[in-house]
Amino acid sequence: MRNYSIALIPGDGIGVDVIREGKKVLDTACEIDGGISIQYEQFDWSCEYYLKHGKMMPDNGLEILKNFDSIYLGAVGYPGVPDHVSLWGLLLPIRRQFQQYINIRPVKLLRGIKSPLANRGVEDLDFIVIRENNEGEYSSIGGRMYEGTNMDMAIQNSVFTRHGVERVLRYAFNLANQQGKRKRLTAATKSNGINHTMPFWDEYVQKINKEFPDVKTDIIHIDALCAFFVTKPDVFDVVVASNLFGDILTDLGAAIIGGLGIAPSANINPEKKFPSMFEPVHGSAPDIAGKGIANPTAAIWCASMMLEHFGENKLAKAIMEALQDVLEEGRIVTPDLGGNATTEEFGEQVCRRLRENYG
Ligand code: NAD
Ligand code: IPM
Ligand code: MN
Repeated sequence: MRNYSIALIPGDGIGVDVIREGKKVLDTACEIDGGISIQYEQFDWSCEYYLKHGKMMPDNGLEILKNFDSIYLGAVGYPGVPDHVSLWGLLLPIRRQFQQYINIRPVKLLRGIKSPLANRGVEDLDFIVIRENNEGEYSSIGGRMYEGTNMDMAIQNSVFTRHGVERVLRYAFNLANQQGKRKRLTAATKSNGINHTMPFWDEYVQKINKEFPDVKTDIIHIDALCAFFVTKPDVFDVVVASNLFGDILTDLGAAIIGGLGIAPSANINPEKKFPSMFEPVHGSAPDIAGKGIANPTAAIWCASMMLEHFGENKLAKAIMEALQDVLEEGRIVTPDLGGNATTEEFGEQVCRRLRENYG
């Protein structure tokens, strides 16, 4: 038996619904394979936990998570707890403490989903955004001054280190070099307006490019890059971006492949010294929470990415095929895709399909 341990953190809002379905799909994958066993432990760390305990997770939370093979997370953040408190209390410390400095966010149109971009199909939308996940614009350095006076102000510093920038760029170049269909790397910048960190970033893009002479590289300003995601998504292969730019680009990326319910993300510690974490790009969606209609596609795709990370490539692929079969059939899909199925009905349909295809 191949054994894996997974820490489940459903979190807040629709996170709970989508992880429930993702877990069912994982269980079904194990069942059809017969050679895998997964031990789960579920943690109720969330905004509800915060309201009871005054913190998002216990003081030894990270110590507990350290021993798992991976973390499968729904979403964190809900009205009632300020977002910067909930996120800096749970999600961001996991990404940082476990050096998950690579955030892989595929922008790939699945079979069966119609892109909102006119006349664009699966062959036009198939690239990967690599988001720097540990530093950059997300820093806790800065502060508030003169509050309550007319000089009230806030300062937040960005942190770009040689170590942090080189490792994410090297990962992205390597990916473009080995797996890129076009051997093309696009780096997001804003060195026209942000005059310290972004010229630094560009300089390292050019430097690391020398290690990968076969990779064609473009450095494109983030504003124009957003436009190109819409007007010419077919030119991209691997896109690398700083933490904030990668965050914004990947909600746009989600939109062009059918919406926030679709897009997955993998927070990877490439050295495998610590667990990696798999979570949808989307958040807790308070507007639809509790209605049972969230699309679990992103969460199910994350489950597939997690199996791939374990080296279970056949099963990872089987999940994606079953998922796309259900989407293509189009009979049982959630309201965001124009259907009227519930989260649960969709999840169960994917499990059924998985059994039919491979059982
Ligand atoms: P959101 O992604 O939660 O929702 C934005 C819109 O997308 C909403 O209209 C929502 O209904 C829709 N949507 C999202 N996921 C969907 C799904 N699976 N199926 C169907 N529709 C879906 O973004 P937000 O409203 O900006 O954030 C809500 C909360 O989630 C905030 O507290 C935010 O900080 C948090 N958040 C957490 C994460 C995370 O934990 N990884 C990510 C993003 C946002
Ligand atoms: C994401 C989210 C988080 C981020 C927030 C909730 C802190 O938007 O994972 O995309 O910005 O990283
Ligand atoms: Mn985001």
